[in-house]
Amino acid sequence: MSSVSIRKVQKDYGAVSVIRGVDVEIDDGEFVILVGPSGCGKSTLLRMIAGLEDISGGEIRIGERVVNDLEPKARDIAMVFQSYALYPHMTVEQNMAFSLKMSGAKKSEIDPKVARAAKILSLEPLLGRLPKELSGGQRQRVAMGRAIVRDPKVFLFDEPLSNLDAKLRVQMRTEIKALHQRLGTTIVYVTHDQVEAMTMADKIVVLHDGVVEQVGAPLDLYDRPANLFVAGFIGSPAMNLIKGKVEREGFVVDGSGLTLPFSNAPTATPGLPAVYGIRPEHFMLDDAGFPITVEVVEPTGSETQVMAQIGGQPITAVFRERITAGPGETIRIAAQREHAHLFDAATEQRIN
Ligand SMILES: Nc1ncnc2c1ncn2[C@@H]1O[C@H](COP(=O)(O)OP(=O)(O)OP(=O)(O)O)[C@@H](O)[C@H]1O
Ligand SMILES: [Mg+2]
Repeated sequence: MSSVSIRKVQKDYGAVSVIRGVDVEIDDGEFVILVGPSGCGKSTLLRMIAGLEDISGGEIRIGERVVNDLEPKARDIAMVFQSYALYPHMTVEQNMAFSLKMSGAKKSEIDPKVARAAKILSLEPLLGRLPKELSGGQRQRVAMGRAIVRDPKVFLFDEPLSNLDAKLRVQMRTEIKALHQRLGTTIVYVTHDQVEAMTMADKIVVLHDGVVEQVGAPLDLYDRPANLFVAGFIGSPAMNLIKGKVEREGFVVDGSGLTLPFSNAPTATPGLPAVYGIRPEHFMLDDAGFPITVEVVEPTGSETQVMAQIGGQPITAVFRERITAGPGETIRIAAQREHAHLFDAATEQRIN
């Protein structure tokens, strides 16, 4: 096991800078997830940790050792990719044993390691099968088995679940989390699925255009996003981001006379152009609230999602109650002031 330290790391492809000074400290045994939109640099950063890409600037350490110039083989890491290409003519057992065999290990050394990985991943009944005789989730487990037998200091995963259907993903998510608890190995895991990130990570790193927007525990990012990007990225359905101005009496929504409440008056100057952030579940039905015209109603059984507008800006609200109002009808709602977020419209940073 090992810590990983990423300091002022940069990656340029010619004149294009894709990683622009990233700092991340990963503790020994920690499960860290890199999230961010497509093209933000997640795979590039992971591949730099693995040694599959050169580092243009900065430093990466695994444990105490600077690995910038170390061959991938010498880094003691195992990587599982999105396309986990198993050897089609080899059985599950042979697939898992292959890398150890190639490195010259003896059968007496390989067998117990394969047996242990098979046990951890519940692959024991499948050891004699070929990849084509397995389901997608089982193949994914074999790919993980190949990584586990190597007993690496660090596991790197690049969107390992993106080829699986929704149900299998949920199941594999639980399995990977349990695997981490059993092995206690440091994991760096890339996904653009923020639900995956929220449910599995000890710590989330939000990347955007090659820079770190925020690092924190999942619920810290959810409860106190540092800026507009993180506010809009973490959470599904997304946080409502409503444009307007901070005034003494509250937040005045652009294009309407509506005032929304917040609890701690920010030090901002009255009249400051700002964005009011409120999660869909932090609206509530309230007879004394303001009226909205329902546009779309989506009942999921456990809750009801309502789409509407405030001052011409689209909003989504989620209620535990069932809503009988249909499109075109008016309901009254209020925002829970203690859950309101405020961001400076110009700097996009949190102000309250
Ligand atoms: N070999 C290369 N030459 C030039 N640009 C590259 C190269 N490889 C990647 N890039 C660029 O670097 C940026 C980051 O790519 P990367 O694959 O790290 O994104 P990502 O966050 O993993 O995205 P995705 O979620 O789509 O997998 C992209 O804009 C990509 O076009
Ligand atoms: Mg990628």
